[in-house]
Amino acid sequence: MIARRDLAVRVAVRTDLSPTCFRIVVATPEPFAAVPGQFAMVACGEGLDPLLRRAYSIAGVARDGERTLVELMVKEVGRGSSRLRRLAPGAELKLLAPLGNGFTLTAAGGARLALVAGGIGLPPVLFAAERLAAAGAPFDLFLGAATAAELLDVERAAAAAAACGGELVLATDDGSRGEAGFVTAALARRLDEGRRYERALACGPNPMLRALARLARERSLAAELSLEEPMGCGVGVCLGCVVELADGRLVPSCKEGPVFEASRLAARWSA
Ligand SMILES: Cc1cc2nc3c(=O)[nH]c(=O)nc-3n(C[C@H](O)[C@H](O)[C@H](O)COP(=O)(O)OP(=O)(O)OC[C@H]3O[C@@H](n4cnc5c(N)ncnc54)[C@H](O)[C@@H]3O)c2cc1C
Ligand code: FES
Repeated sequence: MIARRDLAVRVAVRTDLSPTCFRIVVATPEPFAAVPGQFAMVACGEGLDPLLRRAYSIAGVARDGERTLVELMVKEVGRGSSRLRRLAPGAELKLLAPLGNGFTLTAAGGARLALVAGGIGLPPVLFAAERLAAAGAPFDLFLGAATAAELLDVERAAAAAAACGGELVLATDDGSRGEAGFVTAALARRLDEGRRYERALACGPNPMLRALARLARERSLAAELSLEEPMGCGVGVCLGCVVELADGRLVPSCKEGPVFEASRLAARWSA
């Protein structure tokens, strides 16, 4: 795994994905590699505003001639993300990456994985889907959002799922696209129909991750959850991101995670 570095990058592309979310692709002349689940701490501002870097999952890494392209998907929720939204191609950024661990992408004997994303939890899941598709490994991809407008990058997700003969399952809370209801209920229906998965890999809002951890416990399904606890440093120093494990230990999710096996987490995650 490549060591973390503070990369000076330039914005190559910035495009809207929805009324609140956008894609930002940055370019660096340096070689760079990451695994799905790893993240970057991005300096969003000039000088000290905002003071702290913001954590963003890596959505993809590609070599393009002499440069490496690193993709992020961002939801505009506050100061840092709204500054990122205003950046034009060519703007400079600092990005500390790759940080944290990643999803387990191997499966015994070609068994199928369930990839589950809720809203802006898509980036690490889409990165995993595209890596699995490139390796010809089978998976089904479950994408959930509150409304149809908040389902991101559906065509790309469909292409990744189709590449390995997997199903793309869309679910919206309001039923405006795909199956009505939570994405975890859509996964539960597939399990009820007898579909078997070696493991579920998931990222999304905490209520979705808790529902998935519960489902995994009830159905004896292994699951890895990418947690998005608020982070101040991303490197294990500030302890702003601690999570409680089942054995009572408190660990920084930026160092021990952000991906955790659901069964390692404290009972409140699957209560
Ligand atoms: C490992 C990791 C990966 C992440 N990946 C992504 C990603 O790929 N795309 C993306 O859009 N966001 C991602 N996030 C969340 C992102 O870091 C926050 O949304 C961001 O810090 C907000 O910064 P801001 O300055 O725009 O908003 P702020 O002004 O800092 O906050 C605005 C609002 O967002 C809330 N908020 C702040 N941090 C978080 C958080 N971690 N989770 C949920 N709510 C938060 C605040 O409580 C506040 O209500 C990730 C977080 C972590 C820890
Ligand atoms: S973000 Fe500082 S210790 Fe994890």
